[in-house]
Amino acid sequence: METKTALVTGSTSGIGLGVATSLAQKGYHVIMCGSRSKEDALEAITQVKSSALHSVHYVQADLKTEAGMVSLCKEADSICPGGVDILVNNAGMQHVTPVEDCSLAKWNEIVAINLTAPFYLISHFVPRMKQKDEAKKRLFCDSQPTGKPVQVSQIADLVLFLCSPGADSMTGTSLVMDGGTIAK
Ligand SMILES: NC(=O)c1ccc[n+]([C@@H]2O[C@H](COP(=O)([O-])OP(=O)(O)OC[C@H]3O[C@@H](n4cnc5c(N)ncnc54)[C@H](OP(=O)(O)O)[C@@H]3O)[C@@H](O)[C@H]2O)c1
Repeated sequence: METKTALVTGSTSGIGLGVATSLAQKGYHVIMCGSRSKEDALEAITQVKSSALHSVHYVQADLKTEAGMVSLCKEADSICPGGVDILVNNAGMQHVTPVEDCSLAKWNEIVAINLTAPFYLISHFVPRMKQKDEAKKRLFCDSQPTGKPVQVSQIADLVLFLCSPGADSMTGTSLVMDGGTIAK
């Protein structure tokens, strides 16, 4: 079977690092991304590479900026000329504050990383995914709150499932994995 390539944004820490590690372990080529330098990302890169079956690349890109988004797309295309098979738009930030205390600059930063970057990356990569007939969007729901935090390994397992043939009929939908918090 052809080895697929996954681009995981925000894979220098937390959830993205867990997802990148799982995908590498399962035999995907992995392109990691973060805004920190390669030197500062070394520990994360080493973690992903340590159990990887195929290639692991790192691209430094500040996804709050247009230059960063363009540069990530360019580098990912150079690593994987046919276009990546899987895009995990994980990079993001949270800023919890009363609305009156949130500056316009902070708002713009949040929108840039959490919304604009995923939009840009999807618009860049999805056309070629469609040609491969592999674009997927999913939805899951649970109405009983667990009261427990979601584990990185659970998200990684979900991503692995979404990348598998078993998920081929799940499309045009969104997924929530929050222990039932929203449903409550
Ligand atoms: N953890 C939670 O409970 C939770 C709940 C709901 C949603 N989320 C969302 O899930 C995602 C991951 O959360 P997490 O807890 O794993 O966060 P995290 O540990 O803070 O990781 C965030 C990742 O995003 C990258 N990133 C941040 N700003 C960036 C930028 N300007 N350009 C490129 N990369 C950037 C960081 O890389 P660098 O440091 O190298 O820039 C890092 O790899 C986020 O989008 C978060 O909002 C998390």
